[in-house]
Amino acid sequence: MKALVYGGPGEKSWTDVPDPTIQSPSDVIVKVDTTTICGTDLHILKGDVPTVAKGRILGHEGVGTITEIGASVTSLKVGDRVIISCIKSCGHCANCKTGLYSHCLGEEGTSGIGWVFGHLIDGTQAEFVRVPYAENSLHLLPEGVSDQQAVMLSDILPTGFEIGVQYGRVKPGDTVAVIGAGPVGLAAICTAGLYGAATIIAVDLDANRLEKSREFGATDVVLSSAPDWREQVMVLTDGQGVDVAIEAVGIPATFTMCTEIVRPGGNVANVGVHGKAVELHVEDLWIRNINISMGLVNTNTTPMLLKLVAQQKIPADSFATHHFIFDEFMEAYDTFARAAETKALKVVITA
Ligand SMILES: NC(=O)c1ccc[n+]([C@@H]2O[C@H](COP(=O)([O-])OP(=O)(O)OC[C@H]3O[C@@H](n4cnc5c(N)ncnc54)[C@H](O)[C@@H]3O)[C@@H](O)[C@H]2O)c1
Ligand SMILES: [Zn+2]
Ligand SMILES: [Zn+2]
Repeated sequence: MKALVYGGPGEKSWTDVPDPTIQSPSDVIVKVDTTTICGTDLHILKGDVPTVAKGRILGHEGVGTITEIGASVTSLKVGDRVIISCIKSCGHCANCKTGLYSHCLGEEGTSGIGWVFGHLIDGTQAEFVRVPYAENSLHLLPEGVSDQQAVMLSDILPTGFEIGVQYGRVKPGDTVAVIGAGPVGLAAICTAGLYGAATIIAVDLDANRLEKSREFGATDVVLSSAPDWREQVMVLTDGQGVDVAIEAVGIPATFTMCTEIVRPGGNVANVGVHGKAVELHVEDLWIRNINISMGLVNTNTTPMLLKLVAQQKIPADSFATHHFIFDEFMEAYDTFARAAETKALKVVITA
């Protein structure tokens, strides 16, 4: 089969590799119909994730059709159409039993690390993929949900909702600021309303992404390069600060920005993956009763989000800005890597 193979920092190719095979009775093989590229894949290609070995097939998002099932799989069958979750879940370890799939203790990849696809085992940017713990890590695709909508449920929608909105404890009437209006920030923006957020402020450097954020439910937008960006946020909150500030960039400056706009007693929810140390000014923050949260997505809310996508209550299609076929994989990466110029949000790549 063909797959997108990591060849070390800066190196990748769409090339021939052996087809995956069933290795454990709980595995299935999925023919990938649709996949996409995540910002994390670009981090891997920069060499920021040294645990990814040369030769690894990248990708942790995908929708496909089951072609083969392991001996112990009873609830899935050949021909089923499925969403591949970016997080593995063995379903029976202590962490899986509490919904903390991000720390699944199953041995696949590495025990205790839920994100294994395109990281510690071969991923979804391929014609076929082996899915471990398939009965817990796949979601059946209902009629009426397109591949393009469903692929947004592998990673970005649960990430923005769980680590941004739920960890940020958004509640009815809240004012929420989301710093970073990329796919993950937009996912937080379009799910903040599920808990009744009244005002949703998108903050980004990119005017195009801010404009796009209104399609996802942002009520106000603030360009973070404006010298008075903070005052603009404060005006929108009657000078109080926001109830919840969600960080969806992954750099120290934007984490600090969140702590500068949150009201006393408010929540800062960090979603961004940080590659550099971030300063935390406890000496200033303690007296403001700020709560800070962070985490790796669990994808435990995927079945619920899938229902809302099926009912058109989440604008999943709006994430898809560019379309490619598998043979154009290198072009798809190029378009996604130049998002500021190409205005790409999610590139949808189909077999
Ligand atoms: N916690 C998790 O489980 C998890 C899962 C997936 C992704 N992530 C992380 O979430 C973050 C966002 O992902 P994404 O795919 O949306 O990324 P992205 O790079 O597409 O989007 C980031 C956005 O931040 C904006 N930005 C950059 N600098 C800024 C600044 N100084 N002020 C305001 N905006 C700024 C960019 O213009 C861009 O729109 C990344 O760090 C990613 O690694 C976390
Ligand atoms: Zn991702
Ligand atoms: Zn587990």
